[in-house]
Amino acid sequence: MPTNTSNATVPVLTIDGPSGSGKGTVSRLVAQALGWHYLDSGALYRAIGLAAGWAGIDLSDASALVRCTFGTRVEFVEKDNAEPRVVVNGMDATDVLRTETAGAAASAIAAIPDVRAALTDRQRAFRQAPGLVADGRDMGTVIFPDASPKVFLTASAAERAERRYNQLKGKGVSFTLDGLLREILARDARDANRAVAPLRAAEDAVCIDTTGLGIEEVVQRVLALVSARVD
Ligand code: DC
Repeated sequence: MPTNTSNATVPVLTIDGPSGSGKGTVSRLVAQALGWHYLDSGALYRAIGLAAGWAGIDLSDASALVRCTFGTRVEFVEKDNAEPRVVVNGMDATDVLRTETAGAAASAIAAIPDVRAALTDRQRAFRQAPGLVADGRDMGTVIFPDASPKVFLTASAAERAERRYNQLKGKGVSFTLDGLLREILARDARDANRAVAPLRAAEDAVCIDTTGLGIEEVVQRVLALVSARVD
């Protein structure tokens, strides 16, 4: 993980939005195209939720969760152009982090203000030259308010559930399309209604509805926004 936290002049592109809006894939491809670093902040929240589970910490015990947040090592290991592996306290947790159970734990701990505060500097440390693509819920509103451009990706809940269904198919997990839709709607509601850093587009964000759009088209639109950026 990058360590320099005082790089305020390094450009940051933020891509926020709900689960399944395509922001993970789009952010990674945009970062690759630009040759910039990539921060998957959702993976950080998922990793802390997972580590808390490993340690048997109750998801309502805020002070134990804060200690766990500071004590959990999360490394993103890049290999070629593949999705980075996420290593939590030395264990490759990439596959387990993608499960709905990990997502639900992440969403629960993400509602705790002290946990969010404990992750702030760690996220800002990813701002390294030549630039950063930061993907999450509050990248443009809280973590990098000076980012430019800011993008907010959305897609209908039905399409997001279908994308998730296609991602999970053949991975040996048991699920139904209806079940995934219910989980997505429940997580959206929890993320949007929490008191701290709720999921919402920054006032200066460009919203792109990806319903019916291919990934490549969205990537091109985002790259065009970066090219048109006014510093
Ligand atoms: O993007 P994701 O599905 O991997 O995120 C998992 C959960 O983490 C999501 O329900 C909300 C939370 N999260 C957050 O609150 N703030 C972020 N910047 C990223 C994720």
